[in-house]
Amino acid sequence: MSRRPLVAGNWKMHKTVADAVRLIEDLRKAALPANVEVAVCPPFTALADSARALAGSTIALGAQNMFWEAQGAFTGEISAPMLVAAGCRYVILGHSERRQFFAETDASVARKIRTAYAHDLVPILCVGERLKEREAGRTDHVISEQTEAATAELSGEQVRTLVVAYEPVWAIGTGRSATGEEANRVIGLIRRVLGGRTGDASAQTRILYGGSVTPDNAAEFFGQPEIDGGLIGGASLDASKFTAIVRAAR
Ligand code: PGA
Repeated sequence: MSRRPLVAGNWKMHKTVADAVRLIEDLRKAALPANVEVAVCPPFTALADSARALAGSTIALGAQNMFWEAQGAFTGEISAPMLVAAGCRYVILGHSERRQFFAETDASVARKIRTAYAHDLVPILCVGERLKEREAGRTDHVISEQTEAATAELSGEQVRTLVVAYEPVWAIGTGRSATGEEANRVIGLIRRVLGGRTGDASAQTRILYGGSVTPDNAAEFFGQPEIDGGLIGGASLDASKFTAIVRAAR
């Protein structure tokens, strides 16, 4: 079963509108391999201008979060229809920084995932264990539970299009990445958990690795059979680094 690799840039709380448009222009000038799907996830304020800057290119647009209601009195929140109208195809949900600093739970992530599908957005579901959990030998338990909780109500068809990013929390922004082999093992586990309920569908789910991916270590991850690309934070803020990572996924 061949899965088209996806490399997505998670810009986090970086880039003004002008910075975002400049980075997109630089990415558009680079020769990106046709067999790798590329997405960028700018902050909300830059989405609409980013969509315009991306017009006519094959690079997809994603957001970094959203709320589960379509509209209403929810000061400070952004809805799925707003993201769709701004030109998004993807939305990152359940990123560990959201779980850690903004009290996201498995239950809220599950709700957001259902909303994303209801509005034809493709979720990039993030799961990952903390250092303490890894050291206590609880990695597999934590990953299974997060995956199961977020996807329990999805149909096989939805699981087929879902993107999951395995991001060990201790590897995010720390310069300390997992090994390719261990990331591959955990991603295989995620695929089995998804397959437990939906069978064949999970063979088509794209599961990415994220956490301190750089041009130097990208090939180690992308060469693994279970790893279908990457969710890139720090290195996605620089056009030449991000481009080099995309090429490694070819
Ligand atoms: P990093 O971030 O590449 O800077 O470690 C990855 C992420 O949080 O998605």
